[in-house]
Amino acid sequence: MNYKIALIPGDGIGPEIVKEAVKVLDKAGEKYGFTLEYEKLLMGGASIDVHGIPLTDETIAAAKASDAVLMGSIGGDARTSPWYKLEPSKRPEAGLLKIRKELNLFANLRPAYLYEELKEACPLRDDIIGDGFDMMIMRELTGGLYFGERKTVEENGIRKAIDTLTYDENEIRRIAKRGFDIARKRRKKVTSVDKANVLDSSRLWRAVVEEVAKDYPDVELSHMLVDNCAMQLVRDPKQFDVILTENMFGDILSDEASMVTGSIGMLSSASLNETKFGLYEPSHGSAPDIAGMDIANPIATILSAAMMLRFSLDLDEAADAIENAVKQVLKDGYRTGDIMSEGCKKVGCREMGDLIAQRV
Ligand code: IPM
Ligand code: MG
Repeated sequence: MNYKIALIPGDGIGPEIVKEAVKVLDKAGEKYGFTLEYEKLLMGGASIDVHGIPLTDETIAAAKASDAVLMGSIGGDARTSPWYKLEPSKRPEAGLLKIRKELNLFANLRPAYLYEELKEACPLRDDIIGDGFDMMIMRELTGGLYFGERKTVEENGIRKAIDTLTYDENEIRRIAKRGFDIARKRRKKVTSVDKANVLDSSRLWRAVVEEVAKDYPDVELSHMLVDNCAMQLVRDPKQFDVILTENMFGDILSDEASMVTGSIGMLSSASLNETKFGLYEPSHGSAPDIAGMDIANPIATILSAAMMLRFSLDLDEAADAIENAVKQVLKDGYRTGDIMSEGCKKVGCREMGDLIAQRV
């Protein structure tokens, strides 16, 4: 089989981590009998440099025409990069938000899993880590504060900024269904996270999630306030299976969950629409401070590529092989700087990609 993959290397460490993911994918293709045809697309700062805007209609069309999109990361250093002198709607991040919306990628899956071998890199105490943990953050990705009306005005000489948080019940229902579907394939537990003690949008969220739960009597549902969830993630992360939450809360909690797994360099993600189509990217940013130095951790991108094989292309065996290769490389003691611990062998981005590809 041959598949068309839209490749968006992006900015910062994006190009180098995507290169390693492609290396690993091609190895899996050789072994499992499929080929991937890549079309490189510009987005974020890389697109601004060429086209003056972070996402062109051509890029959107090419992404839509592909079987799946694999992305690195976008954005630069906001203090020094000229991209941030542009108005907010023309900055790199606006391209990412636009492609999520244009492709209707409302379901963002961010698995946070503690590898046995990375216990050393986990900042939590041994008694909290226990046998490790394995959770899936289901983040709503095309609604809420990210896409509400926003403006900055001046009233009587006082500057005022307004962001609006809106959700309708259909947006909540479709992500909730996805969350329960995923939970069914896991440990059958959904923790829905909101701020229902303050926000109307959260009260509706809670009500709709309750309605959806009626169709999933085999899945246990509980609700948690977001501030408590932030605390519980470091107090007892083992309690979580699927965390279902809205866009902004999911953004914040997924960074926290990633650190609990040792490094944000390990956290993959899939953003899906109603069909099998998806965009796959590491949950971390573009780390412009270490770009081009061959020290970035490519594992989150490689694991995102594995998710792409699993969710969009139905190549489960090949996806398993990549995930096992990552486990094996950690078992063999190889680490990039961000997950380094005593007695391990420190390797760069390229070498990590080679070592994983060898083990596929
Ligand atoms: C993420 C990122 C993005 C987000 C930024 C780059 C706009 O932090 O994917 O988590 O906030 O969604
Ligand atoms: Mg984020």
